[in-house]
Amino acid sequence: MKDSVRNEILEDVDLSAMTSLRLPAQARYFVSVTGISDLTEALAWAATEGQETLLLGGGSNLVLAGDYNGLVIRMAFPGRRWEDVSEETATLVLGAGENWHEAVIHAASEGYRGIENLALIPGSTGAAPVQNIGAYGAELKDTLVSVTAYDCGIGKPVTLSNADCRFRYRDSLFKQEPGRYIIVEIRLGLSRTRPFTLGYGELKTCLGDCPGPGSLTPLQVAEAVMTVRRRKLPDPDQLPNAGSFFKNPLVPLAHWKRLQARYPAVVGFPGESTAKLAAAWLIDQCGWKGYRDRRVGVHDRQALVLINHDGGTGDELLALAERIQEDVKNRFGVALEVEPRIIR
Ligand code: EPU
Repeated sequence: MKDSVRNEILEDVDLSAMTSLRLPAQARYFVSVTGISDLTEALAWAATEGQETLLLGGGSNLVLAGDYNGLVIRMAFPGRRWEDVSEETATLVLGAGENWHEAVIHAASEGYRGIENLALIPGSTGAAPVQNIGAYGAELKDTLVSVTAYDCGIGKPVTLSNADCRFRYRDSLFKQEPGRYIIVEIRLGLSRTRPFTLGYGELKTCLGDCPGPGSLTPLQVAEAVMTVRRRKLPDPDQLPNAGSFFKNPLVPLAHWKRLQARYPAVVGFPGESTAKLAAAWLIDQCGWKGYRDRRVGVHDRQALVLINHDGGTGDELLALAERIQEDVKNRFGVALEVEPRIIR
């Protein structure tokens, strides 16, 4: 029988190795939980002791600007199983603590399609719905059936449908109502036959040598995605980073047209009333790509990715982000929103 989770709460724990930016920070208290009873016990302990809580997944979308004076709860819920398996479709059920990329490779290796474009995205499965992870024309919301989350408002687990999660570009209910839900499990609806999403130029080029779409396997697509990602995006184990540091901004169509008239090469995707701009292009044009200020900098192959080169701090990184935001605002009149979560 497992000891009470209270006995497993550690003090003054170094968090730097638990986040992909490797920023120096300590947790006053820390515990790793693997099931609902551990989780509720840890939450009850924090409430009794008057400690704030911070939920930690894979730490790949988090900027720790300093020490955390409360209880950090690491979500380590394990579990990967198939349900409702029919000839063509199946549901993949994943615990929040499962590594996302490994889950993608598992699904693709079994011949199931739907998440192959999301290969190599760092982080845990439980964090995936929070920012509705997306890449190469696919988003998590395209396959997510439901989320099981612990509702801190009512103190028990609830099931949230895809619509309940209010997914948008890099946004969801979990960002809109921070602190209310703790994701413990997700269900993905996958298929052996759904069409691949291969519209992204570089992905198409990379698959050029592969057989026609009829005989492509989801694993081949996942491997092509990995090749494309590795070309541009730094491996957090070598160059600590949190992926895109800013969201691609949405601007009114009138603003987009003004930008196009003045900067014919501007990269953007006009929709009905707004256009989504490539933030990387805006930052690149301001000359930031490859910039380095002592310990922090901007990646030299993707201007949207900030790097912690050599033991930089959260404050240094955020100061650099602010300089970039100011520059882009002054030059293009566009406000860039930071994508990862900042803990001060
Ligand atoms: N570009 C530049 N300079 C650069 C990089 C890109 O001018 O340094 C221009 C290129 O012309 C390119 C355009 O910007 O056409 C867009 O670049 P890219 O295709 O690399 O995509 P992105 O918009 O910068 C988004 C996601 C990535 C995702 C890729 C591929 C966001 C915030 N980022 O980046 O997601 O992998 O598309 O789909 O939406 C992440 O969220 O952490 C992430 C890495």
